[in-house]
Amino acid sequence: MDIGIDKIGFYVPKDYIDIVELAKARDVDPDKFTIGIGQDKQAVPQPYQDAVTMAASAADSILNSEDKQAIGLMIVGTESSIDESKSTAAFLMDLLDLPEDIRAYEIKQACYGATAGLQAAYDFVSLNPGKKALVIASDIARYGIKTPGEVTQGAGSVAMLIGEDPRVVKLDHKSVYMTRNVGDFWRPTFSKVAFARGKFSNQVYVDFFNTLWDKYQAKYDVTADDFKTMLFHIPYTKMGTKALRTLEDKLSPEKYAELTANYQESIKFSREVGNLYTGSLYLGLLSYLVNAAKANEKLLFFSYGSGAVGEIFSGEIQPGFEKVIDKKALQAVIDNRQKMSISDYEKMYQIEYQDGTIVDPTAVDAEFYLSEIKENERLYKKNK
Ligand code: CAA
Repeated sequence: MDIGIDKIGFYVPKDYIDIVELAKARDVDPDKFTIGIGQDKQAVPQPYQDAVTMAASAADSILNSEDKQAIGLMIVGTESSIDESKSTAAFLMDLLDLPEDIRAYEIKQACYGATAGLQAAYDFVSLNPGKKALVIASDIARYGIKTPGEVTQGAGSVAMLIGEDPRVVKLDHKSVYMTRNVGDFWRPTFSKVAFARGKFSNQVYVDFFNTLWDKYQAKYDVTADDFKTMLFHIPYTKMGTKALRTLEDKLSPEKYAELTANYQESIKFSREVGNLYTGSLYLGLLSYLVNAAKANEKLLFFSYGSGAVGEIFSGEIQPGFEKVIDKKALQAVIDNRQKMSISDYEKMYQIEYQDGTIVDPTAVDAEFYLSEIKENERLYKKNK
């Protein structure tokens, strides 16, 4: 049975800041941010947006009523959860009008969560023929104003419908994974912002990639020549470049040039949005599908979640994927946004809704929003 990604869509907040303006405001050479880090814009969520509202928007962009009836499993991968008990997935049941016979839950393991969800979805579909699984990655990446990580923030959500005879990417069930207790990045429950040992986190990321890639090649007797494209977790676009560069001396110049060129196609959306944490790898897939992908290409995926878990797995782009991937509509999500000034972004960053907040719906510019906090319970509404 062929299993994989049958549909994929995404959501990013409608406001962004310009990275050159951010560099100037922080008295940094803009080239450091645009070349050294590799970012152009950064998505900024409104206070009425969170992992729930963004997940709802991403999923809503791909689901029809037939899909909803077929879903038996819904998993949200997030490290920006808004509740220590209730899962982000439970909130989505009403917002997406889903039937009750669904197993719904949340997975947390930093930026690896959605990949754990994808693998669980694969298993679920293989054991439940005819059923589908909805996997959503949804995060707000925050390090704080004037921190080294500020330039690597971002926000957004990616939704994927996993099923039999997939129309976008067939997963071949080949994967290698590893877990190591590492203190490269963490966010205690009291904190809205993450803490990172930035340069150490880069080293761990690259080490995980090299270890897993060696493991994958040995296990499946393949080389880079068997793949058209390598897709990476993209906390910022220079990060994948650093991992890819470690292969330069091991590959033919032609193969390295091809992988580098295709990596550039996969980071176009991330340059515009920033870090989606667990959604970043899949935003890279979307960018590649919109900008360069061809049918039957073999893809290698490197998923990394600090703390740390890594996995390399693979798949194949399906013939006719263009019928499911509306390139214009996906590009429009990136293009139809508005720039926010750095001072407005700094002011908005400080806003945190408290118990008793009621949001004015006429001031909301999003499909789904946090409408109220009542007795410390977050309540959501559709804006349509
Ligand atoms: N022109 C061009 N390039 C310049 C430059 C200039 N004027 N000035 C500096 N640069 C280059 C530097 O040479 C450096 O390049 P290399 O990395 O290739 O050496 C790059 O710009 C960044 O410079 P610094 O290392 O000095 O930057 P920094 O100390 O300000 O911090 C960072 C960078 C460590 C990534 C920081 O932004 C950070 O901590 N980010 C959060 C942690 C993170 O994203 N880690 C990634 C791995 S962990 C993960 O993947 C999970 C996750 O999602 C977080």
